[in-house]
Amino acid sequence: MWLNLRRLQNIDQSYSDLLEQMIDEFRNISDMPPVTASNVGLLISSPKAQVHYHADLPGQALWQVRGVKRVYVYPPTAPFMTPEQIERIVLTGLEVSMDYESWYDEYALAVDLQPGEMMHWPLHSPHRVDNHDCLNVSLTTEYWTKPIRRKVMMNAGNAVLRSKLGITPQSHATSGPGFWAKAALQAGARRAGLLDKQRKASKPITFRLDPAKPGALLELPQNAV
Ligand SMILES: [Fe+2]
Repeated sequence: MWLNLRRLQNIDQSYSDLLEQMIDEFRNISDMPPVTASNVGLLISSPKAQVHYHADLPGQALWQVRGVKRVYVYPPTAPFMTPEQIERIVLTGLEVSMDYESWYDEYALAVDLQPGEMMHWPLHSPHRVDNHDCLNVSLTTEYWTKPIRRKVMMNAGNAVLRSKLGITPQSHATSGPGFWAKAALQAGARRAGLLDKQRKASKPITFRLDPAKPGALLELPQNAV
């Protein structure tokens, strides 16, 4: 079982307060740029559950509440993470379709995360998780800052150049005329629905839960979502 309860700050004020307090504490100990958006989620997962090798677009932190999990964090550079891979995540929203080789582990930071401990890692660092043989409860926080948004816009622009126009992007600059041209290009693609369409196709919703029938899964026809 792997339950991911997302955006709790919109459901319960106490999570919203907690999130604010966490970000304030970050700000007090680092020169973190202002956070423009943030989310908090609760992960409840079974003994020995695994999260496969993936990377996330926003800044991330993982806070362990109960149980123990081994977290592997890999460098955000090739071959662990390539520009093509991050562009694919931007295009499809699929974080877990990344290639993984067991020898990558020699280059990973591996930590057994205990209750009361937290981890965060460089932006777009791939990571994977193996639960120990116990129920795990963890909080995840994600945050967006201006530099992170610019990096994702640049990658979205590069993704459109590579996948829609057949051009291999040469620059990863997040300022200057080239960057703003990509920002406009990806905004246009987004407005035209090119990015969202691909995202929906990659991540179909296949069932819903029915509050009136606990435990029942309502299958959805694929063309209805
Ligand atoms: Fe993640």
